[in-house]
Formats: sequence, structure tokens, C-alpha cells
Amino acid sequence: MKNLNIYIKEKKMKSEIENEMKLEFISKSANEAFARITVAAFASQLDPTIEELADIKTAVSEAVTNCIIHGYDKKQGIVKIFARLKENEILIEISDKGKGIENIDIAKEPLYTTKPNLERSGMGFTIMESFMDEVDVESVVGLGTKVTMRKVIKNKLENEESDDEFEMITKE
Ligand SMILES: Nc1ncnc2c1ncn2[C@@H]1O[C@H](COP(=O)(O)OP(=O)(O)OP(=O)(O)O)[C@@H](O)[C@H]1O
Ligand SMILES: [Mg+2]
Repeated sequence: MKNLNIYIKEKKMKSEIENEMKLEFISKSANEAFARITVAAFASQLDPTIEELADIKTAVSEAVTNCIIHGYDKKQGIVKIFARLKENEILIEISDKGKGIENIDIAKEPLYTTKPNLERSGMGFTIMESFMDEVDVESVVGLGTKVTMRKVIKNKLENEESDDEFEMITKE
């Protein structure tokens, strides 16, 4: 019975997680890895699986690269990231104050790119949409772009039938 109480308490604590972070950096390609790793480290509080963490890293990498390559092009600007953890979900906003997108629907189409000669494949938004549960793009030409993404992190304890952590608790 005591072990069961610890198990329930642990599950409750996870569902009560609430946290926020902000990150700002200059639009250098070298900062893409920094941004992706930082958001992943923050998201790890939700105890995601390796796959869920890899999905978040990939989506952040695509959005940040877009700010650097398209938003600011050869100019230098600030890329901002805001992330919020709530219960079992992560919300990530990635924005620039760069050139903006004329037609968001067209930009989101698979294989659409305005930089075909730069080894771009036009798959960034498609990748974000397939790896995250929700992707929303807001943009104003001349003012900038904001990508908002959400992902539900499934509770490992509920997912794993074997419940390794439960076993660990009962052994204590
Ligand atoms: N932050 C941004 N600012 C301005 N334009 C953007 C921004 N993000 C995307 N775009 C526009 O949307 C298009 C599609 O973006 P997407 O990420 O899908 O493809 P890509 O960046 O061109 O290629 P890939 O991501 O496969 O390297 C871009 O080519 C660009 O014209
Ligand atoms: Mg892209």
C-alpha cells in the first residue's frame, strides 16, 4: 500500500509540472544547435521518450533555421524562443523580426522553397507538422514571423506496460 501511494504521488507530481523559459540569440547558424539542445533540455522535465525528444529537437531546428536563413537572410537579427510546459504538453514559440512570409499557405506546402539553390528542399514546415501535434504560423511581410508548436508528451508510466519505474519504487 505504501508503495502504491508513492507511485500515485509520483504520477501526480508529473501532471502538475508548470514551467516557462525564454531564449534570445543572434541569427548565426552556429546557434541552431544551441537552441535545439536548450529546448530539449527544458522539455526533458516532462520525461519524454527518446523519440519525443528527437521530434522536438528536429522541429525546433527547422523553425530556427528558417528564421536565420529566410527571416534575416544575410542580415543579423534576434531569434526569440519562448517555451511553456503545462501538465503533459510543451508549447514552443519561435520568432524573428525579419522579412516575413507573403503567403503562409503556399510556404507550408511540401517542396515549396524560395531558396532552391541553397540546398533547401522546402520540407521544413512539413517536418514540423509531422513531428509536432500542432503548428501555427503567423507572419507579416516586413515585420517578421512567429511559429507556434505544441506537442503532447505521453506519460511514460502510463505507456510502458512493464513500468520499470514502478519496479524501481517497489524495490526501495
Ligand atoms: N522565418 C521565416 N521568414 C521568412 N520566410 C520564411 C520563414 N520560414 C519559412 N519561410 C518561407 O517559407 C518557405 C518554406 O519553408 P520550409 O522550411 O518549408 O522550406 P525551406 O526552408 O525552403 O527548405 P528546408 O526547410 O527543407 O531546408 C521558405 O522557402 C521561405 O520562403
Ligand atoms: Mg526550412
